[in-house]
This record gives sequence, structure tokens and C-alpha cells, in this order.
Amino acid sequence: MKKFLLTGLIALCLVPVSTGKPAYKNPRLPEEKRVEDLLSRMTLAEKVMQLNQYTLGRNDNVNNIGEVVGKLPAELGSVIYFGSDPVLRNAMQKRAMEESRLGIPLIFGYDDIHGFKTVYQISLGQACSWNPALVEKMCAHSAREARRSGIDWTFSPMIDVARDPRWGRVAEGYGEDPYVNGVFGAASVRGYQGAGLRSLDAVAACLKHYVGYGASEAGRDYVYTEISRPTLWNVYLYPYKMCVDAGAVSLMSSFNDISGVPGSANHYTLSEVLRDAWGFDGLVVSDWDAVRQLINQGYCKDLEEASEAAITAGVDMDMMSHGYDTYLGDLVGSGKVPLSVVDEAVRRVLRVKFRLGLFENPYTPEEAPEKRFFLPEALETASQLAAESMVLLKNDGVLPVKDVSRIAVVGPLANNRLDLLGNWKAHGEAADADAFLSGIEREFPSAEVRYEEGCNVRGEGDFSAAVELARWSDVVVLCLGEMLNWSGENTSRSSIALPAGQERLLEALKAAGKPVVVTLTNGRPLELNRIEPLANAILETWQPGINGAGALAGILSGRINPSGKLAITFPWSTGQIPIYYNRHKSGRRGTQGIYKDITSDPLYPFGHGLSYTTFEYGEPVCVGAPSLGAPFKVEVKVTNTGAADGLETVLWYISDPYCRVVTRPEKELKYFEKKLIKAGASETFVFEVDPARDLGYLDGAGRYFVEAGEYHIFVGDKDIKLQL
Ligand code: NOJ
Repeated sequence: MKKFLLTGLIALCLVPVSTGKPAYKNPRLPEEKRVEDLLSRMTLAEKVMQLNQYTLGRNDNVNNIGEVVGKLPAELGSVIYFGSDPVLRNAMQKRAMEESRLGIPLIFGYDDIHGFKTVYQISLGQACSWNPALVEKMCAHSAREARRSGIDWTFSPMIDVARDPRWGRVAEGYGEDPYVNGVFGAASVRGYQGAGLRSLDAVAACLKHYVGYGASEAGRDYVYTEISRPTLWNVYLYPYKMCVDAGAVSLMSSFNDISGVPGSANHYTLSEVLRDAWGFDGLVVSDWDAVRQLINQGYCKDLEEASEAAITAGVDMDMMSHGYDTYLGDLVGSGKVPLSVVDEAVRRVLRVKFRLGLFENPYTPEEAPEKRFFLPEALETASQLAAESMVLLKNDGVLPVKDVSRIAVVGPLANNRLDLLGNWKAHGEAADADAFLSGIEREFPSAEVRYEEGCNVRGEGDFSAAVELARWSDVVVLCLGEMLNWSGENTSRSSIALPAGQERLLEALKAAGKPVVVTLTNGRPLELNRIEPLANAILETWQPGINGAGALAGILSGRINPSGKLAITFPWSTGQIPIYYNRHKSGRRGTQGIYKDITSDPLYPFGHGLSYTTFEYGEPVCVGAPSLGAPFKVEVKVTNTGAADGLETVLWYISDPYCRVVTRPEKELKYFEKKLIKAGASETFVFEVDPARDLGYLDGAGRYFVEAGEYHIFVGDKDIKLQL
């Protein structure tokens, strides 16, 4: 009897109780039922408005050109919200909820890229930590700050493989390797979206810029890209597939023309690949004004045609082109755009809104800033990420700095807070950051630390006081680098060298006869061939965020053993670009096909990074008898042969040396793992090779194949040959 009662009760709870409300307002119904119910109630005009994203009033992004609107229509789909005040956001939301006929909530988007208020290391630096779990944590903290400030949707992560450091946006992604972009992108998606989008600690992620934007010709932003189909599949689409599989609910279509069909009108990438082949059911928003730019790209003659091209290709939401709101209604009326295409786009927008729980919880709790920002765990993560992402490029033994009583701290980045934040600093402010100088003063309490700027970031200034200080000192710490807005969107450069004045400052200080440790703070690989011979040590800090100073000072003193490795190649000179590790092979080897005037090798290759200890790699061994038919393991023992404990990242590459379908790169990274190895101890690292995932390649039609034959697996300075 009791059992019957209980079953009856459970059954009662499962039966949707009729509340008299329309089905789409019933949170107990399945998402798709709610979507279809709401869609069936909407007029064409209401549908069209859901497909637009506007921004209101303030627009703090200089690259977001175009008009902002003075008043939002209540039926609008989305807003880019440049504020951090939930009160203002809630007021806009109230209008959508109460003044639109169906009460459809707005979704508020924003570029929360490497921190909302607490600013962390830039993405390129994050990749050099080889610690995706830490990046996931960072994104989770950032999501919490953003969502509690009224943001439901972040335009992040950027997973554009970037092999040209003249392109300013290399700072925003995870470097030159497709797999690394996929792993860190997926970690970001998990961090942002958390255990569920309804949580007040989660935001919807947006993969961008779909696709191939990083292939910009000669590193110039927004321009044409020439991408062959095999390269599209194996390089540029590769990380997107990993991140779609990780559950990202949205993507942003790119600005670039992909070999003749722009990314924001590309039916192949947006519909045939993303929707049909990958089964993606979330939302695609255009990049800012990208629909209108189809005209400039020579693909459409006017905004009406551009809107038709974009929506039929698979761009669901128009960010600020004002093409959909102006023309979609008529385009459906004239039969140029089928209503079913509009319906499908609306479904995708509504789905994300339902997933975020916006119909039930449209408003953000109005908590005080102290409850939202700079929480202790977030600050701790900022410090750890800064420490693990810095890369020691050179060290002749001067580091760690020991037994010194006079430290000269010099350079434009030494007592500079703003430029540590990097591009997309969101709501971060210079005052939130700790300057390197302060970190060094705290780290070396028994030494006398003195400071001179020497020159400004442009390299202008009188060096004499700095040279005098160098003479006085036991060691010089010279902090060079870039301004935060020298990288990011629309910041292409023809040379990636630092300003000549900064290089001259190093020469002048070196002439004072004291060891010089150069620290670099920048958003792209730099041309360092003139700096390298003069510096006793070089530490790449990237743009480490608000807690970079403690990390930098800790590495200088030896309290922190550096463990970062490059996720992007540092060319010897700008003329070598593009230069990246996973290139295809040449028909001639050795001295053929190399530069006659300079070395053809990079200054610092992908994966380079020094430690205060040494690691020795044993011979990799295959466990059991490997075959193509089933997963197998390869192991390597790594021994810390030095005197300091150290974190070591083991990078596993594969190579398929001969391939008749399409030639493959010299080597391809397929797995990495980072572990602490105590001084004198050994650790075994294991690569679980799944041939169906790790050994194959895609042909130009996106068909995955795995060939039988010879394979090589590379790890450290060793490799193992397999016949599979
Ligand atoms: C243009 C940028 O390309 C994109 O990354 C960004 O998300 C949008 N503007 C919105 O700010």
C-alpha cells in the first residue's frame, strides 16, 4: 500500500500540472516542447527581432564601429552589455519581460575574455602553462563575476589557430597548434558553462571566430584567407570540433573571406559542417557588423542581399549590422528567404535562452561589488596562472638571483600597471594590478631595490640615470615590452620587434658591466635576435594580469621554479613568418630551400621553456602489442636530475611519415601532461593512444581515415617507431 502511494505521488509529480500558463512558460516541460510552443505563438515581426543583437549607449570597444541605439525595442533578442551593474541590466530586462507581448527575456552578451573584473593572464600565455585544469578554474571564476554582474553570455574562447605573430589577435587564442587550441578551448567551455547554464556561476560560451580568421594574409586583420580544404579540416576546424563536443552552446561567425566565401555567409562551414555533420543545435551570432561587411568583401551588393546570404548560410543572429531587423521580414514576404530558415534561427536563439533559465530567472541578484569581485580563490588562481604561464627563454645561470644586495629595476614595464592587463581587460583597471617593482621589493626584503624607467614603452627617454643605477647594482632587472593595445583586434604589425629605443636601453645597461635579466611583457611572439645575445636571462611574462608581479619576483628569486613552455614559435626574425612546428615536409632537405641570408630556424621553438632543474627522458616503451584496432599505451619515465623540485610538461607527438591520401605535417601534437617531479625522483608519463582518435587525418571532404603502416611517436628527445 505504502509502495503504491509513493509510486502514485512520484507519478503525480511527473505529470505536468496545468497552470493555465502557456506551455513555454512551464519549466517542467522539455526544452524542445517549450521552444516549439513559443515559436508557434510568435508573429514574423517578433521572430525577426529575436535574431538581432544591439548595444545600448556605452560601447567601450574602439573596434566596434557603427551606431549604438538609444532605446532598445522590448522584443529584441540580445544586447551587448558594457556595464557591470546588475541594476541597469535588470531595468532593460524588465522592459523585455513586461512590455513585449510574449515576455521573452533578453540575453546579455559581453567579451569576458581573460577575466571580467579580476584580470588574469592573456589566453596566449595561458596556453604556455599547459595546465588546462587551471584555465578551467579561471574561466569558472570569471563566469561567476560576469553572470552576477548581469552577463549571460561571453564571446569567448577564441580558438583561432594563429601562425602569424604580425596578426595582433594571436594574443587572444592559444597559439599555433590545433590540438592545444582544442584542449584549452574545451577547458574554457567547461569552466564558463560549469555544471549547468542555469547556475548563477555560469555563462554561455561562444567559440570564435568560426572559422579560419587566424589565417589572415600577411597578418593583416579582417582580410582574405586562402585555406585549402585539408588545412581547413585538420588545422582550423579541428579545435572547433573539440569544443562543440565539449558542449559549447554558441559560435561567432568570422569576418574573413574563406577562399572565396566569407565566414559569415559560408553555407559549407556553418550548415553542412557545423549543423549537419557535427549536429550542433546551438546558436551562431555574426561578428560585429560582419553581415554588412559582406558588401565590402564583394560578396553581396547591398545589405538586403547580405542578410539573405547570412541567414540562409546559417548565421542565426545579426550583431549590429541592422540587416536582419531591416530586411528579413520583406525577404520572407517575397519568398527569398523561406520562413523555415527564420524559424530554425529563432529556435536556436530560444534554446540558449531556455538553457540559461532566463524565462524562470530573468533578473540578476543585485549584490554589492565586494560579493562579486576579487574573491580570494580568484586571486589565488590569478597568481598561480601567472606563475605557470611565464616562460624562461634564456638563462646563463644568473637566475635565480642569489646573494645580491643591490638590485636595479629598470624599464617601461617595471612600474607600470596598466600594460600588465593586456587587451580585453574588460572591467579591470590599472589600480587593481600589482606592479613588477612592488613584487620585486617584497621578494627581496634584504636587498636594496632602486628603480629608473630608462625609457617609455615607445623607447623614448634619457638613459643616463638608468645606466648610473646599473653601475651601482649587482644585477639589473630590465622590464621591456608592449603596451596593452599593441596586440588584440586591429593591431597588425609589419615587424614584431620591440621599439629600437628599448633595444638601445638594453645595450646601454649591458655596457655598465652588470648581469642583465630581461623580462618581457607582450601579447605576441617578439623578434629577439638583437636582445638575446645581450641578455643574461630572458623571462617571457606575456600580459600576466593583476597578480603577475608576485609570479615574476618569485621566479627571479627561485621561490617559484619556472615551468611554462611556448605554445607558439618565436621566429628568429620577422622575415621567417609564417614559421610553426607542424609544417609539411619539403621535397629537398638539408641545405636546400633554406634562407641564404639568415638562419631558417626559429629563435625559440614551440615547446621551448627552461627550468631551474633538469629532466632526463628515458626510452619510450609501448605496453603490449600495439595495433590499429584498439587503444594502446606508450610510456616514458622522466627523471628530475637536478636539485630543485620542478613541474614538467611532457608533449607527445605523432607522425605518419608517408600518406597517399594527403601529405601530413612533420609531427602533430596529440597529447600532453604536466606533473610535479621532486628533485632526484622519476615519474612515468603515459600516452593512451586511441588510433581512431590520435593517428588518423581528414581528407578535403572531412572524411577521417587511418592508414595502416609506419608511425612514429616523439617524446622529449626520444622517439619510437611503430608498424601498425
Ligand atoms: C569584434 C571582435 O572580432 C569579436 O571578437 C568581439 O567578440 C566582437 N567585436 C564584440 O565585441
